[in-house]
Amino acid sequence: MIKVAIIGAGAISATHIEAYLAQSESCKIIAISDVYVERAEALNERYGLNAKIYDDADTMLKEIKADLVSICTPPASHASLTTKALKAENNVLLEKPMATSLAECDDMIATAKENGKILSVVSQYRYTGQYYKLKQLLKSGVSGKPLYISIDALFYRGTEYYDLDWRGRWSTEGGGCTLIHAIHFIDQLIWLCGMPNYVYAYIDNLAHENSEVEDFAEAMLRYDNGLLGCLTCSLLHHGEHQGIEIQTDKGAIGVPFNPRVSKAMENGFPMEDLKSVEKLKAAYDSISLPPLQGHAGQIADVIKAIKGQESTYVTGEEARAAFELVQAIYKSATTRSEVSLPLMYSDDFYRKETMVPRMPVFNTKTGNLKGFTTGAIKVGGSEYIEEK
Ligand SMILES: NC(=O)c1ccc[n+]([C@@H]2O[C@H](COP(=O)([O-])OP(=O)(O)OC[C@H]3O[C@@H](n4cnc5c(N)ncnc54)[C@H](O)[C@@H]3O)[C@@H](O)[C@H]2O)c1
Repeated sequence: MIKVAIIGAGAISATHIEAYLAQSESCKIIAISDVYVERAEALNERYGLNAKIYDDADTMLKEIKADLVSICTPPASHASLTTKALKAENNVLLEKPMATSLAECDDMIATAKENGKILSVVSQYRYTGQYYKLKQLLKSGVSGKPLYISIDALFYRGTEYYDLDWRGRWSTEGGGCTLIHAIHFIDQLIWLCGMPNYVYAYIDNLAHENSEVEDFAEAMLRYDNGLLGCLTCSLLHHGEHQGIEIQTDKGAIGVPFNPRVSKAMENGFPMEDLKSVEKLKAAYDSISLPPLQGHAGQIADVIKAIKGQESTYVTGEEARAAFELVQAIYKSATTRSEVSLPLMYSDDFYRKETMVPRMPVFNTKTGNLKGFTTGAIKVGGSEYIEEK
């Protein structure tokens, strides 16, 4: 039985608890802490956990011995809580975004290594139906060589979203829609196609007058192997849409999965190649999903790794790569220039102290709410989870 402790009992923590409960044969939640202790108590009661409740993570880490600590707090606290949990000999599952600077990411990765512990950062889309299948299809080679990838990370958040105290400031949230929302898709991009070599980007704030950070970003991506990409991130898209489309030398595949293949007539104009479409569909349908999806799937992988079993858990290094690409987007947008990767340790965008002063303050951050009364949040991408 893997003993689990949770730090932070806000909106996303319920998703973690439900994911642990979905595999209660292999893990048990033994403790929860939140600086607002009543939130931890409410979760304990709601899910009938019988866990020990703490108002302070330090005391919890001193008093209990967990095998795995889920960290579900705001971004600026991720580095210090993660390093404390790792030093106290716990494995860690950290919510995204990994941190608020590359220096913090490197510190966490080094601490995990020094203490021989696992650090995994949440990227639940990798375990989400159609995204999982897209990766396997691409890996199989059946769908051809990618030439162009376009990603839509189009969300809708009202200005009320930024009433929460930690959101909407470079110093406390670390970024806007690129870091907080599109990070899932940036991880997908790197998972599917690798790290781009060059980035050119724009960021802006078009609709959130109570937030310092960007609510819109457009990035062009270029790879040394010839692949091109385009990423759009938004918090102002009515109806929301998140998806990926990859044009390969054999057809178009993506999420949502709606493969298309064109072939050229004698004059070069296109006609549909239905036989090839059927081939892609058959290859896609033959891919079976892992038994647990979303957060639960990732947790199952982390538990396997803790037990020393073979696992493809999302590592700290992989999460760092997604974080680095976000910093490159911010650097390009603020310097109005193409940025090449990797970013160097000496780069202003490596450390928070030098990155934050370089970022545009789009608007004055005003909200200071400590929490919303409604606990309901949408975990993006769930519409593409298949039940099979
Ligand atoms: N994977 C996803 O799809 C997804 C979705 C939503 C949020 N998140 C991420 O989860 C994290 C938390 O977001 P949220 O929406 O749950 O925020 P939230 O504000 O609702 O909850 C955060 C909780 O952490 C508590 N907290 C803060 N500092 C603490 C500390 N030092 N010790 C103990 N508790 C502390 C707060 O009191 C609060 O209850 C963020 O990094 C966010 O980006 C991920």
